[in-house]
Amino acid sequence: MGALDGQVVVFTGAGSGIGRAVVTHYVAEGARVVAVDVADTVEQLAKELGDAVVPVVTDVRSWEGNVRAAAAARETWGRIDVFVGNAGITDGARPLEEIPGERLTDAFSELFGVNVLAPMLGARAVVDDLVKSRGSIILTGSFASSNAAGGGVLYTASKHAVQGLVRQLAYELAPDVRVNGVAPGVAPTRLRGTTSLGQTAADSVLDGTREVLPLQEVPDVDAYNGIFTLLASPSQSAAMTGTMVTADSGLSIRGLARPGGRVAEAGE
Ligand SMILES: NC(=O)c1ccc[n+]([C@@H]2O[C@H](COP(=O)([O-])OP(=O)(O)OC[C@H]3O[C@@H](n4cnc5c(N)ncnc54)[C@H](O)[C@@H]3O)[C@@H](O)[C@H]2O)c1
Repeated sequence: MGALDGQVVVFTGAGSGIGRAVVTHYVAEGARVVAVDVADTVEQLAKELGDAVVPVVTDVRSWEGNVRAAAAARETWGRIDVFVGNAGITDGARPLEEIPGERLTDAFSELFGVNVLAPMLGARAVVDDLVKSRGSIILTGSFASSNAAGGGVLYTASKHAVQGLVRQLAYELAPDVRVNGVAPGVAPTRLRGTTSLGQTAADSVLDGTREVLPLQEVPDVDAYNGIFTLLASPSQSAAMTGTMVTADSGLSIRGLARPGGRVAEAGE
């Protein structure tokens, strides 16, 4: 028996990275998933995982795309229990001073469109279903949801906004729908950048990242599967709402000294 037997999930950003890993794990735990992504990689994922996955290729910034994803779940399985808003893009840690002023409005619209507007649209498209099923919403935040220097000004502000979405929606939808987030530190993926700033996809793990993490390991993309499963499971996280679960390899608790108390200093 799987932890998510019988659950129907609408999951954005399912085509690669953390999303692909979590969807694969969800299916192994008994869930059926509408896998949404702007990239057609979700079609390949559906071929690999079989009837438990229905792919929807769409830009999650569009209301129609979110409506289509919700309709696919209803038409295929007749219900929706969980919405995961995971699609995201980065600003390549670009500081404000290095963004040309005349491009800032477009870059803001693009990045906030994916990271903030899209989870709002997705939640709006499925809210009636979730109230009916007493389901839950999970949004992917970041270390940058509550710290500086986990991105640039656009990414950090957008992920702080995700934290706000989690709290506000948890309040608005209580007691019928639980709303939580996951805040990863790093994962070995290639996040897309903003086209308005001419950015392409880049490695999320930078040189030197491993060395500054208290846990001294760059976690695998699979490292977050358990937390997403916990939050989707009504029996395992019945008392959790309005929470952002931090999984940042200790990044937010390190100070000025060596990364971890038992990490050797250079030369020791
Ligand atoms: N990788 C990290 O170090 C890290 C750290 C903290 C948080 N995160 C967050 O994790 C989430 C997943 O990112 P990832 O690292 O797995 O990267 P990823 O690029 O592998 O996954 C993001 C997915 O979102 C999709 N996407 C982007 N824009 C879209 C749009 N407009 N419409 C539909 N789909 C769209 C991409 O095609 C991609 O499949 C993001 O929200 C990211 O901000 C990642």
